[in-house]
Amino acid sequence: MAVRIHPSILSADFANLERDLGAIATADYAHVDVMDQHFVPNLTLGLPVVRRLAQVSPVPMDVHLMIEDADRWAPEYAAAGASSVTFHAEAAQAPVRLARELRERGVRAGIALRPASPVEPLLDLLAEFDMVLVMTVEPGFGGQSFIEGTLPKLRRLRQAVRESGTGTWIQVDGGVSRDTIGRIARAGADTFVAGSAVYGAADVAAEIAALRELAEAPIQA
Ligand code: DX5
Ligand code: ZN
Repeated sequence: MAVRIHPSILSADFANLERDLGAIATADYAHVDVMDQHFVPNLTLGLPVVRRLAQVSPVPMDVHLMIEDADRWAPEYAAAGASSVTFHAEAAQAPVRLARELRERGVRAGIALRPASPVEPLLDLLAEFDMVLVMTVEPGFGGQSFIEGTLPKLRRLRQAVRESGTGTWIQVDGGVSRDTIGRIARAGADTFVAGSAVYGAADVAAEIAALRELAEAPIQA
């Protein structure tokens, strides 16, 4: 099983986003956190910035929308140049319709769950989504500590993906570090967002490589 590392530019220098995207050329995707100060108590960036970042990023962009009214706005991020668009289940009126619309626009469709949101309603619908994002902190801020209680949700999801044969990616976001990534991988995740761990490291490329190796170890064992 392939392991993917998606550094989150939430922990990059917002005055030097092009430079900091250049530093993660060995990653699989750049994770871009869009926050609207309503769905979460923080505000980051929106369509005009994503449009420009897509033009300069050395890797495809994985946009994580933490916004209300996802049905209205998510398709605009596909048009803005994202390769993957993830919306929150809690913020979408018609998640399956929205995922289909995203796929029609040629991007991967992801659905995200807050730590306290159950995964069970999605288990029969995995064919509709290219990725399920299990939030492992409450969304809104970087640098929070990993919530251990999300691991059983990852295990249930991995089992359902295996049984479904859909190949849906299982992404985790929040508190991913050298300390936690091994047990998160063992629980079933294959796609890892890391913000403060990557951008807080002295050598960003070395940190990406180290996280990748630690995530691959339990999967190959
Ligand atoms: C938080 C964001 C994350 C954030 C993760 O709501 O969705 O992508 O950047 O930050 P770390 O890796 O520092 O927990
Ligand atoms: Zn995120």
